[in-house]
Amino acid sequence: MRRCQRRGIMRQYTALLKPYRWWVVLALLMATLTVLANVGLMSTSAYLIARAAQHPYTILLLWVPIVGVRFFGTSRGVFRYLDRYVSHNVTFQLLKELRVYVYRKLEPLIPSRLQAFHTGDLLSRVVSDVDTLQNLYLGLYAPPIVALLSTIVILGLMAYFGVALALVLAVFLVLAGVVVPVLSQWSAGGLTARMVQARGELSTELVETIHGNTDLLVLGQEARHLEKLGALVRAWALRRIRLHWLAGLSAGIMQALNNGAMWLILVLGIGMVTRGALPPVLLPVVVLLTLASFEAVNALPPAFQMRGQISAARTRINEIVDQTPPIFAGQKTLEAVGLDGKAPAVQLHDVRFRYHSTTPWVLDKTSFDVLPMQHVAVVGPSGAGKSTLSGVLSQLWPYEEGHILINGVELSDLRVDAMPHLIGVVDQEPHLFDTTLRENLLLANPSATPTQLQEALRIAQLESLVNELPDGLETPVGEHGFNFSGGERKRVAIARVILQNAPILVFDEATEGLDALTERRLIQELRQWAKNKTVLWITHRLVNLDVMDQVVVLAQGRVVEQGPAETLGRQRGLFQRMRESEIQTFAWNADAV
Ligand SMILES: Nc1ncnc2c1ncn2[C@@H]1O[C@H](COP(=O)(O)OP(=O)(O)O)[C@@H](O)[C@H]1O
Ligand SMILES: [Mg+2]
Repeated sequence: MRRCQRRGIMRQYTALLKPYRWWVVLALLMATLTVLANVGLMSTSAYLIARAAQHPYTILLLWVPIVGVRFFGTSRGVFRYLDRYVSHNVTFQLLKELRVYVYRKLEPLIPSRLQAFHTGDLLSRVVSDVDTLQNLYLGLYAPPIVALLSTIVILGLMAYFGVALALVLAVFLVLAGVVVPVLSQWSAGGLTARMVQARGELSTELVETIHGNTDLLVLGQEARHLEKLGALVRAWALRRIRLHWLAGLSAGIMQALNNGAMWLILVLGIGMVTRGALPPVLLPVVVLLTLASFEAVNALPPAFQMRGQISAARTRINEIVDQTPPIFAGQKTLEAVGLDGKAPAVQLHDVRFRYHSTTPWVLDKTSFDVLPMQHVAVVGPSGAGKSTLSGVLSQLWPYEEGHILINGVELSDLRVDAMPHLIGVVDQEPHLFDTTLRENLLLANPSATPTQLQEALRIAQLESLVNELPDGLETPVGEHGFNFSGGERKRVAIARVILQNAPILVFDEATEGLDALTERRLIQELRQWAKNKTVLWITHRLVNLDVMDQVVVLAQGRVVEQGPAETLGRQRGLFQRMRESEIQTFAWNADAV
């Protein structure tokens, strides 16, 4: 049952080769011809030398073997070239298909189903393990087929010289082509899986170390951590060394078998020559034919060893791609919302969401309405579920209960690919890609004109920053945008969402890390630009909220207060208490200065 299931899983990857099946056939043919050309070359040259040593009465008798040597010598090179060319082409095509396949499977799993994986481990799976799987054709399928095809021809040829010779060669080829590979696979089996596992662990730890290296240095823990890394490297290296050792051993055994076969054939051949069963001139031919024939099976032990690696890699990839994606089965297109260039209403009705079925609700019957073109502030203490709300609204996280209606259409009924045209989000921790500022901005709208770009920069209060940069928009932002401060990264994300120009906007702590003056200007400009859009302004800062149409106060995933800031201020509820403590903190800070 398990075996059967395993085969089925393998088929899912083999199927990726289907569009290239004629290339595969061509590659197999070329590889077989390469082996056979070598056999031909060795045999004809042995014949040529032996025949020449007999000093034939006319040179013309050597003419045929000379042509043979030339033909096989040249064609071997040509076949080998074509074999390499075609088989590597197949491998790279397979790698491309594999990467696309894994990426397609990965995409709907982000973020909910991938939370359980460490970043480094995930990286190792989608990079190293996928790279290992690319050997499916060249390392796994091709060698046995090529071996079988060429062995048949070689044994047929040998049988022509003597059936006994063919039988002896057959025994040795089976030993070398089946017994040694099976034994080497058996001895490497568990080791290979552990090696792949160790590679994953090492990668996990390495990525963690790189991400956290500032903290490690500050806390003086780098030596301890390096030791831990060293141990992982040693564990991984040890397994690799053992695997190489095993590979060396099996290569040695193959060589011994090859030479043993040659000696035995030589002894047998001498007997046949003395009995007159074989013309003397053919003796070197059968001996060198034996020597060359092992090329057919030499690739088999590594191929069998590769099986372990491929199967371990496949298991690790399947642990990701076999996950059922969260149900984003919505089929309705953007038209269903009936926008007509107008911003839609957003209604939340008893929405419930939790990150895991065993953890408490993070949004617990959250309800509030936002009218078209209203600007609503969502406030609340840290951990109230504000950022979660932003993720749920953009269909990053699926809500379990309740309704979110966009102009009356259930959000989860909408196709995921409609979301970017419906809702623009500035994340609390926006991601910038490791490229130029311009590329990061154009991501939201590749066809944005320079004027639009300039306008977005102006609204996001980035104009002077960009003007001061020597390379302007061509400045690289660095990995994770680390060349810029947190507040600057946020403003780049704001400019990006302006270019995206969706009718609903969610800003999650968009002004965090800004000085009061810039904050005020940004809010003014943004509100002006977004006056025809529906806006959710998520913040834990309670100043400047008088300009919002409404304030929704969230605590532990529930709406506890709602109304204009002015009204809430008079009620002396959570909002007012939070605001007072914020003002006090501010005053206290001002005193300290
Ligand atoms: N990716 C996540 N996985 C599990 N729990 C999370 C995740 N993100 C947030 N939480 C939890 O959900 C709760 C609400 O978090 P969040 O929405 O970020 O609050 P806020 O933005 O209001 O500060 C917190 O208890 C937090 O620990
Ligand atoms: Mg938050």
